Amino acid sequence: MKGIILAGGKGTRLYPNTIAISKQLLPIYDKPLIYYPLSVLLLAHIKEVLLISTPEDTPDYEKLLGDGSRLGIHIEYKVQDKPRGLADAFILGADFIGSDSVCLVLGDNVFYGQYFSTILANAQAQIANGGAAIFGYPVANPKEFGVVEFDEHFKVISIEEKPTVPKSNYAVPGLYFYDNRVVDIAKNVKPSARGEIEITSINNAYLEAGDLNVTLMGRGMAWLDTGSPKGMLKAAEFVQTVQDMQGFYISCIEEIAWRRGFINKDQLRSIGEELKMTDYGRYLLSLLEE
Ligand code: G1P
Repeated sequence: MKGIILAGGKGTRLYPNTIAISKQLLPIYDKPLIYYPLSVLLLAHIKEVLLISTPEDTPDYEKLLGDGSRLGIHIEYKVQDKPRGLADAFILGADFIGSDSVCLVLGDNVFYGQYFSTILANAQAQIANGGAAIFGYPVANPKEFGVVEFDEHFKVISIEEKPTVPKSNYAVPGLYFYDNRVVDIAKNVKPSARGEIEITSINNAYLEAGDLNVTLMGRGMAWLDTGSPKGMLKAAEFVQTVQDMQGFYISCIEEIAWRRGFINKDQLRSIGEELKMTDYGRYLLSLLEE
């Protein structure tokens, strides 16, 4: 399975923070926002990653993450000349995806929870023989998201993009698993009223084919909002609180790469040594004493 991170957009809701720098490079406490979605792909054992961003911002991501070899993975970059909608990820990524299945994670989505690795493995198993797997997460402000509509038996009957009258409070987070059909489906998506080719249209195409799995994330899973300065501050406080209380770091990409066997102890040590002037670097070194 391949992985795509979409890190485009102008981040206008965070101006002036994001006039000169990409939103997904801003910090959530002690690490750049992009580490959080990248950690999702690593947790899912995905080692081939395509990062899509704007012409201005792509060089910054290359500076931060390079070719991925420090994490024992392979990262490629693709420039999106202008934002056309999330479904564009599969058109821009068609060559990269090849004949594989794919996981798309949005560059500003932060997930945390004890059973998250199992949730990811289940989604991958759900689409092993074809289909799509997405999630529903209860939110207070469903109007701002793709929203799942259920019938009285909790069967999914549609996904609506930013409905004025949401039919449930289950939003679809920015984490999607698809079989290879997604490339052709994306190429045929018609632009919505807001002029974008919507990921929601892709999900509805799978739903109509009877191939959409929707798993509800419940209590114990955190999906943190980073769409406003306040959301970013709250997310940072959440990360700080959990890390300080438990001593386990959230979305520490080097730790996950090591635990997944993508890098060895010596590689982890050398990154830890480089960063040992920070708590982050000392945390990496402390893992070696386990
Ligand atoms: C996008 C999707 C929406 C989804 C959301 C999750 O919205 O269009 O369906 O619920 O991401 O973060 P956007 O961030 O483009 O407003």
